[in-house]
Amino acid sequence: MTTPTVRLSVDPAHPEDAPLEQAAARLRAGGLVAFPTETVYGLGAHALDADAVRRIFEAKQRPAHNPLIVHVRDAADARALTRAWPAQAELLTRALWPGPLTLILPRASHVPDAVTAGGDGVALRAPAHPVARRLLAIAALPIAAPSANRYTHISPTRADHVARSLGDRVAMILDGGPCQLGLESTVLSLMRPDAPELLRLGAVTREQLEAILGAPVTVRPSLESGADEGEGEGAPSPSPGLARRHYAPQALTRALDEGAWAQAPWRHDARAGLIAWQPCDPHGAHLITLPADPQGYARGLYDALHALESAACETIYLELPPRGPGWRAIHDRVRRATSA
Ligand code: TXA
Ligand code: MG
Repeated sequence: MTTPTVRLSVDPAHPEDAPLEQAAARLRAGGLVAFPTETVYGLGAHALDADAVRRIFEAKQRPAHNPLIVHVRDAADARALTRAWPAQAELLTRALWPGPLTLILPRASHVPDAVTAGGDGVALRAPAHPVARRLLAIAALPIAAPSANRYTHISPTRADHVARSLGDRVAMILDGGPCQLGLESTVLSLMRPDAPELLRLGAVTREQLEAILGAPVTVRPSLESGADEGEGEGAPSPSPGLARRHYAPQALTRALDEGAWAQAPWRHDARAGLIAWQPCDPHGAHLITLPADPQGYARGLYDALHALESAACETIYLELPPRGPGWRAIHDRVRRATSA
């Protein structure tokens, strides 16, 4: 038996309390609620209710070894879920919370194993989106929430994407319009506070983190190389969501460098979709042009992939974006979306 998904519109800047009270009641009862954050939509559950958390894994068809981010209002709420709060956590949360930074810290014993996948670290983030913040305040609970998509599918940046990816597996969606940033948060491990390690690139850059900490931040080597992590057998991965195909659309997606792009391989392909950032002749293919600045590009990338997928494109050709510090997280996601 499935029930149709309840979809509630919420003003993204000044959220009304009534829909958020409904959502909070559902969370307290152990149910799932999809809600907007400034990065992507999350699929939320009461983080301290292990049964509720397990429902997230079922809905996403996500393997249980892949831990979840717990969303909190502020550093004080985060700290209550940890056993240790190093000076580095204090510095970073003061400077960057609420915002797109997730910190991994030693977990408190009352954080369920289902959340951390049995690991010793808990991932914590205070989202900046007014709807997420108001929901956290009304529910007065920590909310475990991965991106609200089926496992390995593209993350959702609109309520429609959530509905398309999860269907009736999610009982309630709070529709707060498109997400501002469009890529998932930066994930930084502080499990060894003297050796902070970036596990996922995002809007908060390594340079920003280093400037705040006054110390070097290492980048997990597989992030630079795009190597696969987490889907493999055997040893547990420190951040299993780094699986290479984690962000892949269902259409075959190919990233083309300048030379390959100039040859317009979509010319004879009626079912092709194109994602470009420079002027381009689509030859009848479905073309989406993204802004040439990293913020605009990041905001539009997943939306473009979702749009071409729902237009039934069989092959998506993507013009490799520019290089440069502001583009690193984008290249990381492009690499994952296009790895075969
Ligand atoms: O922007 C975001 O972070 C979004 C919104 C909804 O907040 N959430 C999100 O969650 O992207 P998810 O589950 O799709 O990605 C979480 C990432 C995964 O790569 C996961 O493996 C890693 O964080 N992670 C979570 N808990 C961890 C932990 N305890 N230790 C190491 N990595 C962890
Ligand atoms: Mg995800």
